[in-house]
Amino acid sequence: MSVTTRREENVGYVEIDNPPVNAIGQAVRRGLLDAVRWAEKEMLDRVIVTGAGRAFAAGADAKEFDKAPVEPHLPDVLNAIDESFVPWVAAINGVALGGGAEIAMACRMRIMAPGAQIGLPEVTLGVIPGAGGTQRLPRLVGLEKALDMLTSGKPLGAQAAFEVGLAHDVDKDPVEAAFMVNTEELGCVVPTWELPAPVLDDTALSDARDRVKTKMAGQSAPLRAIDVMQAGLAVPFHDALPIERAAFLELKTADQSQALRHIFFAKRAAKPPADLSAPPFVPDHVAVVGGGTMGAGIAYALLNAGLTVTLLETDQEGMARAAANVDKIINASLNRGLITDSTAADHKTRLTISDDYTQAGQATLAIEAAFESMEVKREVFTKLEAAMTMDAILATNTSYLDVNEIAASIADPSRVVGLHFFAPAHIMKLLEIVRGDQTSDAALAVGFALAAKFRKIPVLAGVCDGFIGNRILARYREAADTVFMDGSTPWEVDEAMVEFGYAMGPYEAQDLSGLDIAHANRRRQDATRDPNRRYIPIADRLIELGKLGKKSGAGWYRYPGGGGKVEDPIVADLAIEESHFAGRTRTDYPPEEIRKRLLLAMINEAADILDDGIAQSARDIDLVTVFGYSFPRWRGGLMHHADTIGAATIVSQLNELAKEDHVAWKVSPLLERCAKEGTPIAEAKPSA
Ligand code: 3HC
Repeated sequence: MSVTTRREENVGYVEIDNPPVNAIGQAVRRGLLDAVRWAEKEMLDRVIVTGAGRAFAAGADAKEFDKAPVEPHLPDVLNAIDESFVPWVAAINGVALGGGAEIAMACRMRIMAPGAQIGLPEVTLGVIPGAGGTQRLPRLVGLEKALDMLTSGKPLGAQAAFEVGLAHDVDKDPVEAAFMVNTEELGCVVPTWELPAPVLDDTALSDARDRVKTKMAGQSAPLRAIDVMQAGLAVPFHDALPIERAAFLELKTADQSQALRHIFFAKRAAKPPADLSAPPFVPDHVAVVGGGTMGAGIAYALLNAGLTVTLLETDQEGMARAAANVDKIINASLNRGLITDSTAADHKTRLTISDDYTQAGQATLAIEAAFESMEVKREVFTKLEAAMTMDAILATNTSYLDVNEIAASIADPSRVVGLHFFAPAHIMKLLEIVRGDQTSDAALAVGFALAAKFRKIPVLAGVCDGFIGNRILARYREAADTVFMDGSTPWEVDEAMVEFGYAMGPYEAQDLSGLDIAHANRRRQDATRDPNRRYIPIADRLIELGKLGKKSGAGWYRYPGGGGKVEDPIVADLAIEESHFAGRTRTDYPPEEIRKRLLLAMINEAADILDDGIAQSARDIDLVTVFGYSFPRWRGGLMHHADTIGAATIVSQLNELAKEDHVAWKVSPLLERCAKEGTPIAEAKPSA
């Protein structure tokens, strides 16, 4: 049942009923069109349309986007509603998004429940509204507000919608409120399509374009939405609709929309493995070890999720630092209006900070976020084992270290799991859940349940140096350093990657996170590094010069007065010097070549990660790269992007590079298989 109708006296009630979120598929469109004809035939006074369940309607069914459009088309259905002699009132019970908002805007009136939302998020799926949204919205809220809503994709809450004139009323029972609207008043409301178009203000249009170019660089849909709105408002309403529709149909099959849809559905498919035998379990009391930036962020995320937290530190000084770190996050959240004073006070009542491990005795989960040293970790785990019950789960937030070795420090290693958060831990969406050789299903189930509680995206990873994300990152940086040493500058490398769609390049990003962690990792890897692998020493030279990144005033760039980045000729000279010592001839790489090398390096490493079974699927790698490492979402993640290049091309480009360095550019067997068999990387499986 997609749309139900019922009549009570002279009022028609239409309910969109397509669980879980009333996406507008073909059956819903057909049902709505039939309802228009039914209401007219019955000569009803009004129709009240609402959604069954929690949503009004979440928009066009994105699963239909890969197929050819099937009649009736949504614009025709909405024109029928807008032009009907029976006035329709939208009783917006939950989210009215995309096509859902367009249905509501085609109605004569909109009454929203207090918790409902209305908006046009199409650009977040790489398309623009395709059923009159670009034309009805500015007629209802004016040009500037419409430009803002359309390009940002951000929905409005009920009160905000009321204030801008998009909703006529806010009522906790919108259906009843729609029934109560005076018939005469309803009869006087002008159909949306007949409202005058707002004046096309050149400044508002160019400001919107500038905003999009800065905030959404590289994305085509937001700019197209402005073009279409502008072109449509310059002609009569019914001439504007075909312009909008043509752009919508073109965008929905284009690369960016496919990439964004892939990420939309991948995010929702990130769930515990189907064969996990233990039920989800969220502990109500968690011990966090270490109150540094990461530990404090994790503690705050736990408090925010309503859990009790014992934050363990080594001494009084550490405890004071931990308290200050948590307070800083609480205050920042208060200032941003994310939490209220009473929530902040409540958080503090559920937080204990101590240097006494016995305080963690009641906790059923511990998350260790201590200093990144195997010795320190093993000591912490031994202390946790002694203080906590036999069945408590012990998690490590290590970003590189061997989870199996950490697990071996306690009697029952099945209790140990890796929970790799990304800084800031209370904000970043990704959680890598690392399965050690002995990790039990119960320990994994806690990780997945916690991710769901935090509304984070869980990705299962196996044990290796850096797991999924940091292993790819290490290769990315290595490739960048090679390009730098052999001819480019850090700023040229950064610019090439920003042009690709990253918010910042690898060098600026390292300056922000600090060069010391990567340096410590390189020293840890010294003993096991393949002696045939080329080692680029420039980062080590920077450390020797005290250039640790932005926090020390200089890293790859200089930051005079703690301000913005400035190119540093000394750093450029270091590369010239080092390549001279190494007897290499430098090459002036064009940006495309820089991009090609860095992307191929990541793709090749990711393919090995998949082949080794460290990642479960290419889709998981896409989620890790987008949500943990800012790979441009509109490119669909690393492996989705790789498929747009094609495995055969990738293999032949890697083979070319292998002529320069056959160790660094050794082609992944998984890519070779995909190239040979002509199969997409998205479908590739581990060789084992
Ligand atoms: N099409 C198809 N499926 C959709 C969908 C859509 N528009 N919106 C949500 N779903 C599916 C999800 O994939 C998920 O499926 P699953 O259970 O199989 O994993 C299920 O509905 C529930 O979704 P969520 O897990 O996201 O549930 P939440 O409660 O967390 O969020 C929501 C609900 C806010 C509606 C969120 O799903 C959302 O933002 N949806 C997309 C809204 C959107 O972008 N609409 C515009 C579509 S384009 C359009 O309308 C074009 C038009 O102008 C012609």
